[in-house]
Amino acid sequence: MGMARIVRGAIPSPNIWHTPQVYELENRAVDPERRADAAMEAIRPLAGAVVLDIGCGTGYHLPGYAATAARVIGVEPHGDLAAAAARRCAALPTVTVHAAAAQALPLPDASVDVAVARWAYFFGPGCEPGLRELSRVLRRGGTAFVLDLDASRGAFGRWFGETVPAYSAPAVEAFWARQGWQRQDLDLSMVFDRRADLEAVLRIEFAPAVAERAIAETTGVRLDYPNVLRWRHFDA
Ligand SMILES: C[S@@+](CC[C@H](N)C(=O)[O-])C[C@H]1O[C@@H](n2cnc3c(N)ncnc32)[C@H](O)[C@@H]1O
Repeated sequence: MGMARIVRGAIPSPNIWHTPQVYELENRAVDPERRADAAMEAIRPLAGAVVLDIGCGTGYHLPGYAATAARVIGVEPHGDLAAAAARRCAALPTVTVHAAAAQALPLPDASVDVAVARWAYFFGPGCEPGLRELSRVLRRGGTAFVLDLDASRGAFGRWFGETVPAYSAPAVEAFWARQGWQRQDLDLSMVFDRRADLEAVLRIEFAPAVAERAIAETTGVRLDYPNVLRWRHFDA
């Protein structure tokens, strides 16, 4: 994937950029109980909605949205991943994929009912340009969701902190509170078919030494994956 075109403003995402096939195993393992989808559905149902997935990667979540939404738009700044997302959804006439970034969405004003970003771009301070784009493209009555790791909880949060020492979970929390977003803890898990898949995923998520410690600390094929779901309704 060395020659990929990458749209300006993309945040390097080595896990999926360099090893999309391992990231696919991660997506398959995450949240077997579908708690994240259930939590979003309880806040804002997708039935009949125009749904925007920002930072959709290879489009893993697009077919699930398309099962209930009227229309689904995936946006992804890494050209090869955007192409993979388009291929994944080639047989789904209601799905469109664009190579673009959160800071410059190729969409008209007030054209989206539900925006979702999973583990993408909206990581806290610095994502203001994307937040401005959200308020431009969301319709009145629309809802935006951001699902992310909760780095303040659990072994997973600790391994993340050891991998990205500059990350401040309290600063991120304060940022979203200032923006007026709501939040809910989500106790997700990852459950793998094979131990080797769990180890491969830990190795793409964490620094090498941290990953080896995480592997040593973990038995079996299951990991706790503490997440936080954030959302805002766009009423005004
Ligand atoms: C960890 S991956 C998650 C992919 C996808 N949401 C999923 O759940 O499978 C993060 C994604 O965000 C994308 N990304 C990076 N910078 C972005 C930006 N400025 N705007 C939108 N997406 C971005 C990356 O290219 C990558 O595909």
